[in-house]
Amino acid sequence: MKVGEHHYRSIWLNVDGHGVDIIDQRWLPHEFRVETLHTLDAAAVAIRDMWVRGAPLIGATAAYGMAIEMRRDASDEALDAAWETLHATRPTAINLRWALDDMRAVLRPLPLAERANAAYRRAAEISDEDVEINRAIGRNGLALIREIASRKKPGEPVNILTHCNAGWVATVDYGTATAPIYLATEEGVPVHVYVDETRPRNQGAQLTAWELGCHGVPHTLIVDNAGGHLMQRGMVDMVIVGTDRTTANGDVCNKIGTYLKALAAQDNGVPFYVGLPSPTIDWTVRDGLKEIPIEERSADEVSFVQGRGEDGRTTRVRISPETTPAANPAFDVTPARLVTGLITERGVCEASAKGLATLFPEKHNAGNAPR
Ligand code: MRU
Repeated sequence: MKVGEHHYRSIWLNVDGHGVDIIDQRWLPHEFRVETLHTLDAAAVAIRDMWVRGAPLIGATAAYGMAIEMRRDASDEALDAAWETLHATRPTAINLRWALDDMRAVLRPLPLAERANAAYRRAAEISDEDVEINRAIGRNGLALIREIASRKKPGEPVNILTHCNAGWVATVDYGTATAPIYLATEEGVPVHVYVDETRPRNQGAQLTAWELGCHGVPHTLIVDNAGGHLMQRGMVDMVIVGTDRTTANGDVCNKIGTYLKALAAQDNGVPFYVGLPSPTIDWTVRDGLKEIPIEERSADEVSFVQGRGEDGRTTRVRISPETTPAANPAFDVTPARLVTGLITERGVCEASAKGLATLFPEKHNAGNAPR
């Protein structure tokens, strides 16, 4: 996608052919910084400390992290240790485990001398596949937006509310929740996006608003608590969010606060959709509430906010008393019954075991589908 006049992906191979370049998202929207990862540990830190974030991008970064390590040491021991190191970085997004399992399955049968090249090749494929998946999600979601647009007066925008950042910087390109929005904009279907600021880390205010602005998509930043009010007033036509892990039964785990938006949407008859790439489906999990590990992040993310100071520098300020403890669960689970539909690369389906099985019969036939 575009940053100024340049087209960027969120991750790419450095010109030296071995390092991996990423956009360090901690500094957006005020500073656009590119960093090069040269070691497994650097890749692990980048994921853990959220230089990169968003389920699909976490997966792609982990794949490249493994490739970097295979160049240093391609032994089975190094392969397993790299899997462990990267897997320990963040617990909730299933794309991480998916990418690591995929890489290990590709690399394990190969002679040691071939592993490094094969690892870089497979990491690049995983990245390219992510882009294709997101474009397909975009096309499938665009049909839903068009349908709503057809019921509006000519030129009247479709109002879409989104939470967190499931945009192109959360993926390799296009985003999941944003892909239908970008395609609608490209095709001249008028849209307007309500962007939840998404406390505590403000991915909506800092990343989604920045992305949409770069692409000329009309948008309005709102505080997290405004969504229900806007829905009551008929100001939201649909909600589209991303997901870090969706169960085989259609329960959707996503950024903390997503569940409250789904409740408000249900109460107000607003359709609630989830952009869902298939690597984000955890076919082994049947009950999202009981089985998905919810990341608990540092309390400092709640007690402090980061922004640009009047001196033009990025700065952090404390917003609560020094003695007040804070809790920071980073994700929540929206039960399938609150989800209108899952927008996947293969089409839109009901959020249920049956719905997912119609689009992914091979998972069903492999005996992986839920009871
Ligand atoms: O903690 P983050 O910023 O990694 O959380 C990101 C989200 O919750 C996204 O909605 C999700 O990963 C989907 S990204 C296409």
